[in-house]
Parts: sequence; C-alpha cells; structure tokens
Amino acid sequence: MNYLIGIDVGTSATKTVLFDEKGTVISSSSQEYPLYQPHNGWAEQKPEDWRDAVLKTLKEVVVQSGVAKEDVKGIGISGQMHGLVMLDEDGEVIRPSIIWCDQRTGAEVEDMLSIMPRERWIEITANPPLTGWTAAKILWVRKQEPENYKRCRHILLPKDYIRYILTGVFATEVSDASGMQLLDVAGRSWSDEVLTKLDIPREWLGDVYESCEVTGQILFDIAEKTGLTTDTKVVGGAGDNAAAAVGTGVVKDGTAFTTIGSSGVVFAHSSQMTIDPKGRVHTCCCAVPGAWHVMGVTQGAGLSLKWFKDQFCQDYVAEAEKEDIDVYDLINRDIESIPAGSDRLIYLPYLMGERTPHLDPDCRGVFFGLSAIHTKAHLLRAVMEGVSYSLSDCNDILQEMGVEVEEMMACGGGGKSPIWRQMLASLYDCQVKTVHQSEGPALGVAILAGVGCGIFESVEKACEALISVNKRSTPVEQEVKTYQAYHQLYKKLYVNLKDSYKELAAL
Ligand code: XUL
Repeated sequence: MNYLIGIDVGTSATKTVLFDEKGTVISSSSQEYPLYQPHNGWAEQKPEDWRDAVLKTLKEVVVQSGVAKEDVKGIGISGQMHGLVMLDEDGEVIRPSIIWCDQRTGAEVEDMLSIMPRERWIEITANPPLTGWTAAKILWVRKQEPENYKRCRHILLPKDYIRYILTGVFATEVSDASGMQLLDVAGRSWSDEVLTKLDIPREWLGDVYESCEVTGQILFDIAEKTGLTTDTKVVGGAGDNAAAAVGTGVVKDGTAFTTIGSSGVVFAHSSQMTIDPKGRVHTCCCAVPGAWHVMGVTQGAGLSLKWFKDQFCQDYVAEAEKEDIDVYDLINRDIESIPAGSDRLIYLPYLMGERTPHLDPDCRGVFFGLSAIHTKAHLLRAVMEGVSYSLSDCNDILQEMGVEVEEMMACGGGGKSPIWRQMLASLYDCQVKTVHQSEGPALGVAILAGVGCGIFESVEKACEALISVNKRSTPVEQEVKTYQAYHQLYKKLYVNLKDSYKELAAL
C-alpha cells in the first residue's frame, strides 16, 4: 500500500495527517502556536513556530502510523495564504511573518494604485490591490523597516517556507501565488510588469509550479529527524482554501464550499476565469490544473468565536474540561435554546477589518442591540450568526456574478457544527452538505501529492474515488424569513457605521 501525508499550516495550529491511498486516516497530529497582535489591526506569527510544529507533527504521524518509511510516497503542504516570509541570504528568517488578516497596509494599497490603475491590477492579478495580500506587505517593510528590506533575498508564503525547510527548494504553486498580487493569474506565472512596477527582484521569488507537480524531495537531515526517506516527494500543494476544495471534492463547475476556520470563505470552482469588476471577491488559480476559483472572505469567522471564548468563556472552558468534551460542543449545546436572531442581537464580525464585500481595513466588531435580557449564550449565538451573515454576503456576490452553485459543501472547524451549518442553509436558502472525509486541506494536498507521485490519474478522478457526501442541512422556512430580515439590517449597519469607523481609526 502507498501512503501520503498532508500538512496544513493553519493560523491556530499545524495539522499533519498520514493517509493511505484510499484516503483513510492512519495517523494525525496537530500543534498550536500563538498569534501576535502588536497593534490594533496587526497580525504576525513566527515562521520558526510553523517549522517546529511541522517537524514535530511529521515525526509523530510517521512514528504513530507504523508504516514503512519507503511506503510514504509523497507530501503535500497547504497553508494560510498571503503571509509574508522574508529570508536573508543564509535562509534565516528576517522578521515575523505579517499574516493574512493583518490590516496595516492601507497606505501601501494607495501607493500601488498610484503606480498602476486599479483596472490594470485587476487585468493582471485578477484582483484589486488588497491590504491583506503579500505585495502591499512587501512595500510596507521596504518603507517602514529599510534595514530588514536590505537583508531580504527570498520572499515566501507560509507553506512555501515549510517547503524550503523540508526540501531546501525555493518554490511556490499557482493557487497560493495568486494571493501575492504578483502573479499573472490568467497566465499562471509571475508578472514581469507588476514586478518591474513594484521594483521587486524576480530572483527573490521561487519558481511557480502547478499544485500537483513535484517540487523536490526530503532533505537528508529532515529525513533523519522525521523518520522519512529522502525519496519522499513534495508537491506544489495549495493555499488552504484551494486545498480544502480538493479535500471536499469541489473540483468541477457547479460545486462550492463554505469553510469556517479562523477566516470564513465561500469558494466556487470555475473552469473559466471569472472576475468581480468591483473586486469584492477574489479570483485565483485553483489546484486543478488549468482552472480557477472565486472566493469571498470573512476576516474574522472562527477567529471571532475563538476571541469571544478566550476572553469571556473561562466557565465554558472549565466545564468542558470537567465533562471531557470539546468546548465548542458545549457552546453549540447551549445556544440551541436561543431563537434565530438571538432575540434581536446582531454581531458584526469585523475584528480584523473586513474583505468581502467591504474591502475595509478600518471597520471593527460590533454587538448591536444589546439588552438586559441577553445572556452569554445569546452573545455566542449572535457571534455565529454574524459570521453567517458575512458569509451570506459572500454567497450573494457569487450569485450576483452568475457563478453557478449547484452543490454547497461545508468544512473547517465551524463546518463541523450542525447548528452553524443550519444557519448557513437557512441564510443561503439551499442545502449545505458535509463529506465523510473531514480532513479538508490536509486531505486535499495529500491527494495532490498522490497525483504528483502517479498514484492517482488526476485530481478530479481521485476526488471521485475518495470523497463522498455525508450529512445535509436543509433550510427551515421560518428561519429563512427571520434570517433574511436580520441580514438586511446587518447590511445597513455597516453602511451607517462606515464614516464612524474611519473616525475611530484616526483617533
Ligand atoms: C484567504 C485568506 C484566508 C487565509 C487563512 O484569502 O486570507 O482564508 O488563507 O486561512
């Protein structure tokens, strides 16, 4: 039997899973690390934490599995998108990574627009300049930390830093590279025009591969440390959303998924390149060669719930420990008795600004309608509903663009919650399904590795063979009506607060 490993370098943790070639989980391990927020709207992580988590979990899955190392044929790496990793000429990390939800680059986005018109940015990179994307962060370091910029010789995305650690190769692949704003997304290669305009040396960027192409093999000392062999191949892999698409079988037109991880994403596969002229949703290359995807992004999805839990739910944490259950299961249990709409309480999930549909780095979270009748369970339900309203904004834009969605899957930590899936089903007014194989991005990149190693004929064929639908949540008529009304009011709140957010940011 052949075995494959998928590594997902997420925002809260790295998860590494060893699968057999039928997609069965043989062993799995995860390791958490901190998120640093030195200022309001900033978000950083240490690439060294990702590296340590990957090496530890890789070793664990290999040892736990008892599988002969020669049988582990390939590894795929998935990771949080858009993060900036800068290395010096010795391959050492220069500064912490500025990650996907960081919003410090409003001025740099303006600089980018003064260098090249918005329309041209969209023509080449398929997206307007965006605060959370990598290019603006490179300009920020150049402007604010010239000493660091001077030392820079390599620019990598989070998962591509891990590729460098495992294989010594500087490379990326099309799905994640699309989120750097340096790629010609139609041509699936670096844009010389953009690199020249931004004055970023081409040699700082690795080669760009398709997601299932082999990019290198495990280095000797890494093989020694992890129990693998130097014959194990590492394929391109994918950004976490493109990877989750493969892991949930979203690899053909008409299929889409909603993931609730730290971010929330509504993602639709597209064999043609489709662009929102208003730039509210992103268009990127997907992990299926020759295809793209469109996705809307909620910045603070699971991040909102985790924030609320960490700050205000020590009682839940203690009780969950006592009962030996997951704290989120306890939260789900408690909010079930709260009616849809949380008794007139609305949460805006803009803790880290918002992308879809507002593209606003300055907006922030709000509880609207707080009353003395509200309990902690109301606030928790309102957080989950607020995230769902934002995801519904994303879904509405896909519909407005005419992106056909016949099948909507749910995945990510939040996608495991039946109550959260029910909210989505009623808000989208369509069935929301899960798949039996719940490993999402890790399975997705393991499949890509299987294609790269010749175990599977194609990404689509592998998904057909390995992935099957599990549960379905169906819209509930009364909830559909209630949520429509709440969603309308939710949308108005941003419009009403827009100028006040700017004032707040200027204080
Ligand atoms: C997508 C995005 C997030 C990150 C973190 O554009 O920023 O989904 O990939 O998961």
